[in-house]
Amino acid sequence: MSEHRKQTFIGLVAAIMVIGMTMPVAQARQVTETLVGDMERGERLYRQRCMACHALDANRAGPSHRGVFGREAGAVDGYRYSGALRDSGIIWTAETLDSWLSNPTGLVPGTSMGVRTRNAQDRADIISYLESLSPAEPD
Ligand code: HEC
Repeated sequence: MSEHRKQTFIGLVAAIMVIGMTMPVAQARQVTETLVGDMERGERLYRQRCMACHALDANRAGPSHRGVFGREAGAVDGYRYSGALRDSGIIWTAETLDSWLSNPTGLVPGTSMGVRTRNAQDRADIISYLESLSPAEPD
């Protein structure tokens, strides 16, 4: 290969690598915007990953969850929240729950929940399960 050709070739390879590195990021963004939660899968994930600390109708290590969707953070009677979460002013919507589940201490520094759910589809599924629990059932 001539020196000129070699440089053109290297330039091409570099361009392809840059495209290759930026494309998945763009695609991943698009996917998060259009994710649809699977409620039944969410219920399974909830049993596996949340029920170690949470229950629907009782406070355990974490507060009870029925009706959490649409509720203000830190509002379950009889549960001792961290001051950070209690005073956060957050309303639990699909957006705030997504941010919370992906990184609780990032959203609310000082919270006592540290469990992160890194997979966006898992979060969407769990959130649609939590949404399906609302509103709280009458006694
Ligand atoms: C290791 C224990 C633990 C696990 C596992 C856990 N949590 Fe928590 N969670 C907590 C604690 C403790 C709090 C209270 C945090 C505080 O007061 O700062 C909490 C609080 C919450 C809140 C806020 C509720 C409110 O009333 O404001 C939500 C929502 C929540 N957790 C969802 C989940 C989901 C969904 C999962 C499963 C993916 C999960 N948590 C797994 C311990 C846990």
